[in-house]
Amino acid sequence: MSDKKTIFSGVQPSGKLTLGNYLGAIKNFQLLQEEYNCIYCVVDMHAITVRQEPAALRRQTLEVLAQYIACGLDPEKSILFVQSHVPAHAELAWVLNCFTMFGEASRMTQFKDKSAKHTDNVNVGLFDYPVLMAADILLYQTDMVPVGVDQRQHVELARNIVQRFNGIHPDTFVMPEPYIPKTGAKIMSLADPVRKMSKSDENQNGFILLMDKPEDIMRKFKRAVTDSDSRIIVADDKPGVSNLISIYALATGQTTEAVEAEFAGKGYGDFKPAVGQAVVELLRPIRTKTEDLLKNKDYLEQVYRAGAAKASYLARKTMDKVYRKVGFVKR
Ligand code: TRP
Repeated sequence: MSDKKTIFSGVQPSGKLTLGNYLGAIKNFQLLQEEYNCIYCVVDMHAITVRQEPAALRRQTLEVLAQYIACGLDPEKSILFVQSHVPAHAELAWVLNCFTMFGEASRMTQFKDKSAKHTDNVNVGLFDYPVLMAADILLYQTDMVPVGVDQRQHVELARNIVQRFNGIHPDTFVMPEPYIPKTGAKIMSLADPVRKMSKSDENQNGFILLMDKPEDIMRKFKRAVTDSDSRIIVADDKPGVSNLISIYALATGQTTEAVEAEFAGKGYGDFKPAVGQAVVELLRPIRTKTEDLLKNKDYLEQVYRAGAAKASYLARKTMDKVYRKVGFVKR
């Protein structure tokens, strides 16, 4: 690879990406691929730490891949692949397990949350999830990992593992940094605007999916929770309206000030449908492109195979080094 820095990001194959995922992260990835070596991985091995329906997992893996491409990730510029297609992820995870302390893994808050939520299936994989994530990152000598706050602790763990491993076996791994994008917004729930937009929201009206139909998008925006007075301005005590203003600004490529000026003196009756319409237009090409890609399984297969070949080449270089460092006989 060139001397550009490497960015690695993993996405769970839940199949459903939201407007929040798009405006907050994926839209930026498109710009990053010009400046960095970008590696995007659909983490199906992480997904099975909670029970999955096999046919649904297979379908959703392709759906996520198709949506990423439709959002502008270019398989010629970035490496797009499926985690289970590169066995080195599991191999490195095993080695890193032996460099991760039981105590530090036990402190991961996501494990505590998830094991409280899935009390009938607190499996070892769920506990080991952050170590597999560290393997994803370290395998590609990643410089930067774009993650939300919920994954920050896992990147910290990866950094601790690097420090420990490199302390014993110098110059093995690059120390990764969490990457906080300069642009990219935090989009809030339409139903409860003090919470982040999330597909796991019980209220279906709280989130917009990239694949939502125009009429559903319009309905959700018309029902969006706003605030008691009817002014269309950004303000701390107006989280609902502020969120809609930033969505409209991002969807139409304007500043929030321009949006405030456009709707000065107007009411929610004008504003909410305008936001809905802007989002419909923003997502229309993404939805159409995703649908086309999902009809073209041969193309998707070609993309993920080529991606896995490129990823495997890089991963093998790291694995050879790691196996040599820990004292395995060269095969
Ligand atoms: N755990 C991440 C999430 O749920 C997904 C992930 C897996 C990831 N491996 C990664 C993210 C490596 C960044 C880097 O969002």
